[in-house]
Order: sequence, then structure tokens, then C-alpha cells
Amino acid sequence: MLNRRKALTLGGGLLGGALFLPACGTSQAAMIRPAGHATQGTLLQQHHGSVLYTGADASTGAAYSVPMPVPQVLTPLESKDNTDIYRIAIEQANVQILPGLTTQMLSYGGRFGGPTIRARTGRRVLVTYQNRHTEPVNVHLHGGHVPAASDGHPTDLLQPGQSRTYEYPNRQQGATLWYHDHSHHTEAEHVYRGLHGFYLIEDPAEASLRLPDGEFDVPIMLRDAQFDERGTLVYGDPRLRNVILANGKPQPYFQVAARKYRFRFLNCANERTFRLRLGGAEMIQIGSDGGLLPAPVIRSDIGLGPGERTEIVVDFSRNKPGDQLVLADETGPVLRFDVTRPVADHSRVPAALRPLAALPATKTNREVSLSFDLSGDPVGLVNGRPYDPDRDDFVIRRGTSEIWRVTNGDGSFGFEHNFHLHLVQFRILDRDSQPPTLDDAGLKDTVPIPAGKSVRLQATFDSDYLGRYVYHCHFLEHSSVGMMAQMKIVP
Ligand code: C2O
Ligand code: CU
Ligand code: CU
Repeated sequence: MLNRRKALTLGGGLLGGALFLPACGTSQAAMIRPAGHATQGTLLQQHHGSVLYTGADASTGAAYSVPMPVPQVLTPLESKDNTDIYRIAIEQANVQILPGLTTQMLSYGGRFGGPTIRARTGRRVLVTYQNRHTEPVNVHLHGGHVPAASDGHPTDLLQPGQSRTYEYPNRQQGATLWYHDHSHHTEAEHVYRGLHGFYLIEDPAEASLRLPDGEFDVPIMLRDAQFDERGTLVYGDPRLRNVILANGKPQPYFQVAARKYRFRFLNCANERTFRLRLGGAEMIQIGSDGGLLPAPVIRSDIGLGPGERTEIVVDFSRNKPGDQLVLADETGPVLRFDVTRPVADHSRVPAALRPLAALPATKTNREVSLSFDLSGDPVGLVNGRPYDPDRDDFVIRRGTSEIWRVTNGDGSFGFEHNFHLHLVQFRILDRDSQPPTLDDAGLKDTVPIPAGKSVRLQATFDSDYLGRYVYHCHFLEHSSVGMMAQMKIVP
């Protein structure tokens, strides 16, 4: 690993303002950025004026100059009885991200963005990962209900050269999951450098809904990145990650037929929150982190923080061949849909999708607070303490349902956080006594918490699995400096 300087400089006497990157080397401190940078006057200008990817930069080429690929679905090495077996190497790979330039990334299986695993509810998956990288790694299935030994606990690592088989029982409803590195202190850099991929659980119970499927069911991972003029990936200040990638390509175009599509969006950026708008067609939200919503919802804009997923249907049948529809974030375009041809479409969006189970009765209430200690090198805290793998912060009896109030304790500093819980999905009950937002709908495992605000959620540990699982802020430069804690599920 790089030996990082940990100096923190706060600019202008304004704590909510700029954090400066020291001139030499990469500062981990500088990777911790205040919230709302994109909405504060000076930084907004800085953001838009000097670092925003506009497509005008000669080294990156114009927007919509490359097609968006769809990550390849991995074929099992072997399928027997009720199990599909896969093997994936974790290795460096030279890939083309910016037109005409080669970038060295970390990869699953040699492809930036990883192969997609398509699993099925009720059918077991075994994945053997081989670490061909020079640093310890591990793999976490985000959103997965899996045994503790296969959860990718931060200290449960694959050393260089080692292989390891993870077991995913898939005893859960259909949902858009993803897998990524979770190695203690190095997860942020590893994920940034490319260790993320899709893991989709298809649920036979969804088939009768006749949602768009096959080639019309398209996963799209969104993230940002910073490159130098030679195309080398730069791991530094998150505010300088000015290139927006959709399935690993900068502001690409994607050709669609004039019919309905299901798009599964994942935000796999370390820190960026997207607020997505689509010009020229409706976004019909059908799912969130934990899969389908009870009913479709028409959305004008959708917030998607680090780690979150949203599923939408877009019906291009009202568009004509030649139409171009831009999906944009407040910082600029993300992706353009180019309508090419009319085509028959027998899919639909039924008025009822998947009911949510009633919330069970609960007696346990817990408080969780996320904050920074900025007295020296920045340290991430949960309930006042940095992560300690030898300490069980909460002991939870399996089969119980609990209400957690999670507070962003950095109101005065202005840092944005979010909250991610391993093992189970939860429901958002309220936000500082106000009703949840549209972005909070359905089953969630990751939820944004603005500075100084709190969220109440209910999680049910109806769990077949015992042992240790973590929960943390999914701004990965926060969790990697300690904003993480763990629970122990006991009989
Ligand atoms: Cu997506 Cu604990 O992580
Ligand atoms: Cu997770
Ligand atoms: Cu955070």
C-alpha cells in the first residue's frame, strides 16, 4: 500500500468548506469530504469550473462517443444438483476506459466492472475466488443473506496466492445485489480501483409478472473516477473524481429498441451521490435495494447514494427511432439512450408487484451514531468508537426484530453519511419523525443520512445465520478509517 500522509487542512476557517489535498502524495484525510460540496457556492464553481467532466477535454473525448457495454454474464463452470459453481480470479487488468487510452485497474476475471453472476432464489451458488493481486483482498456480497463465513468480514482475508470458496445459498427474494472488496482499511482503494461486480438474484416468483427480461433487463453500474492525461487511474480527493462511468465507460450511449426495458442501477462509487433524471420518458420505479416494490411508482428524479440500487422500467415505445434521451445527474449527463427500431413487446408493468411483509412487533430499540473525530488524523466513529474487529458492538438474538435510530452526528461539520447493514434488509420507518421519502421505499440495506439528521429503521433478524456481521457508513473512505461496527447474532 501507499504510505499515506494523514494531514488534514481545513480551508477558510469554514469546517463545512474545503479540505485540501497536500501537494505531495495521496492523503487519506483529503479523501474525507464534506457533504453538500456540490451545492455550496464556491465549491460548486470549483466543481463545475475546473473538475467537472464536460466531454470537451481532449484526453477523455466527447460525451456519447462510446457505446455502453453490458457486463458479461458468467457461465457456471459446473452445475450440479442445486448448485452452480463459479471461479473468478482477482487480478490487475489493462482495460480501455477512456477512448484511446489504457488504464490499469483491479478486476474480477480480467474485466473492469466484473462479470455478472445471475443466481436464482433457492439455488445455491459457490464462487471460488483466487487472489492473484499483491495485497490481501476479500469479497462481500452486498445485500446477500449469507453465512458469516461467506460474508467477507473485514479481517477474513485471502492473502496473495490464496483461493477461497464463498457459499451463497440465495434463500432470499429476487434482488439486484453486488459483490465487492471488504478488506479492512483497503476496501475503499480496492473498490475504487475496480473490485465491484453485479450479482442478480432472479426469483421464479417474478416470472408471472412479465416484466421486461432477457436482453431487455439491463444492469447499469454508475460510479466516478479520476484519470491523469495518460489515462492512469488516480486515487485521491473524491471531489476530483470528475469522470462519470456507466458500466465502465465515460458518458456512453446505449442503443435501445422502442419498447420497455428494465434497468437495474447500482451506485458503486465510493462517495458520489447521484440524482438521476431522464428527459423524454418516464422513469417507473419498480424496485430498490431489496428487490421489487409493492407497486410501481413514477419518479421525476431518483437519489442513489453509494451502495444503493434502484430498478426502473422505461417504455421507449412512445419514442420514435432516432430519438435520444439523456439520463442526467445534477453534475451533467450520465448516459444517453438512443432509440433505434420498433419491436414487438409483450412485457408489462403490473399494478401490483410484490407485497411487503407486515412489520413484526418489536421491543428492542438501539441508537447508532456516525461521526468523525477530527482532533488529529480523521477517524471514523460509530457510537464514539472506531471499528475494532475484536469488539462486538451489538449482540442480537436471532429471530428478533429491532428498531435502530441511526444519526449522522456530524451536523456541525456538514459531512454526509449513509448507513449499510449486512445480513438483512430493513424498512425505513421515518426521518426525524417525518415520513420516509420516495427513495426510502421498499426493502433497503443502504440509506443516506444527511448531516445532522437521523433515520429510524426496522430490521428483522429472522436469521438462520449466527456470527459476526458489520454495519457501516458506505462512503468507503469513511468506513476504511473506522466508521464501521459489528454485531454478533446469537441463538
Ligand atoms: Cu457494500 Cu459492508 O458493504
Ligand atoms: Cu454489504
Ligand atoms: Cu460516512
